[in-house]
Amino acid sequence: MGNERPFHWEFRPEPIEREIFRIEGGRPLSGRVPISGAKNAALKLLAAATLTGERCRFSNVPEIEDVRVMAETLRDLGVVVDHPAPNVYEVASGDVDWLFVPLEAAARMRASFMLLGPLLSRFGRVIISNPGGDRIGRRPVNLHVDAMRALGAEIEYRNGYYFARAPGRLRGGEVRFPFVSVMGTENAILAATLADGHTVIRPAAREPEVDDLIAFLGKMGAEVERTAPDTVEVEGRKRLRGADHRVIPDRIEAGTFVIAAAVTGGRVTLEGAPCDLLGAFIETVGRVGLELSCGRDTIEVRGAPPDGGAYRAVDVETAPYPGFATDLQPPMCVLLSQAVGTSRVHETIFEDRLEWLVELARMGAAVTIEDEHHATISGPARLHGAEVEIGDLRAGASLILAALAASGTTTIHGAHHVHRGYENIEGKFLGLGARIERLAEGTTDSSS
Ligand code: EPZ
Repeated sequence: MGNERPFHWEFRPEPIEREIFRIEGGRPLSGRVPISGAKNAALKLLAAATLTGERCRFSNVPEIEDVRVMAETLRDLGVVVDHPAPNVYEVASGDVDWLFVPLEAAARMRASFMLLGPLLSRFGRVIISNPGGDRIGRRPVNLHVDAMRALGAEIEYRNGYYFARAPGRLRGGEVRFPFVSVMGTENAILAATLADGHTVIRPAAREPEVDDLIAFLGKMGAEVERTAPDTVEVEGRKRLRGADHRVIPDRIEAGTFVIAAAVTGGRVTLEGAPCDLLGAFIETVGRVGLELSCGRDTIEVRGAPPDGGAYRAVDVETAPYPGFATDLQPPMCVLLSQAVGTSRVHETIFEDRLEWLVELARMGAAVTIEDEHHATISGPARLHGAEVEIGDLRAGASLILAALAASGTTTIHGAHHVHRGYENIEGKFLGLGARIERLAEGTTDSSS
């Protein structure tokens, strides 16, 4: 390729600052819906590409805002990031000009902190802002910092920034976490791939996205192995090479669409869906009484007619993989609002990830939030349209599910949260027969 910059395929919907969804519910969804690549794999893969100066090419990358933010953050560092086609990104971190990840990036997306490990390991220094991310609890990054220090880094915290340096090179060592942290594990793995010596990380997160990252690192020539279910070991290398990789399907998006079919009494087939990565979720919705069947890479859902009383209340407790995913707890609560009986929800990973249930209650759900980690949901409750506000990504998607199941029209404010993590969600629901519009805040009706 010459030195002309290749065409950037950038589909960016008109820049609507404050967005709303307007949804007319009560219609069963039907048809086929494609599942996109996993947000929580793609963001880490893009960060991992900075471990080499050679070009890396990623396919099946979801067209979502968080990926665009990560691409912009990398470009601000001087990394070449091309977007030659839909769902394809190429990254070449030959000469990184700046080793500075600003507040703007971190405030928009917590996963920008994934640059700490690779930049520190490859360049020996980085200044990075303390991240923001979703509003689901405090979400510190102390475990990431402790992991870097265990690999020999010197890190100071001043005025919202971490000043990190690795005199010489990072050196392999023992990284012990007090409890499982997904990105803590991933940051430690990335840092260890270029460290001098052997690293043992435990307990290491078992999420499929972590294994997708390990698979990509192996293609780059890194020596990373899961030597026990909760242990990852790394033999540091001096250099890594570029590689190509296809992002795994998004299990959280898949679970979201399963619940959409369930609560609208629809018949939906998910295409490119990772059944094998949804064990705990499928077991749970099975106990609720949802009929679904897994194909090689499809999930067929046959939702029961609303207010038919077909779903049964169950207790749900979130846990690190392979337990029930915390990111599927909000969608699950919508299904539980339609189940006969009282369900107990125990959110063990994040504090105040149940807060959004107040919005669900405004639509008629019978919800009691007992404390930061416990709630009960009684049903079946007939949901009705309302004006509701989104606080975070997964709660936002769940309010869409509730609106699709509700009778009447719902206006959901804060739609931009959903576009951080779901590719073309309104287009996918329209394709299933939903009545959903994405509008600028303040639009009185779609005809205007
Ligand atoms: C990842 O966040 C995901 N995000 C989250 O998805 C997901 O909910 C979470 O893992 C759990 O599965 C990405 O991968 C980009 P953690 P992460 O470290 O790594 C505490 C979504 O909607 N903790 O496993 O940040 C933390 O507060 C998002 O896609 C510390 O105390 O989560 C939480 O209580 C939401 N100190 C617990 O650990 C730290 O340094 C587990 O969090 C780090 C985390």
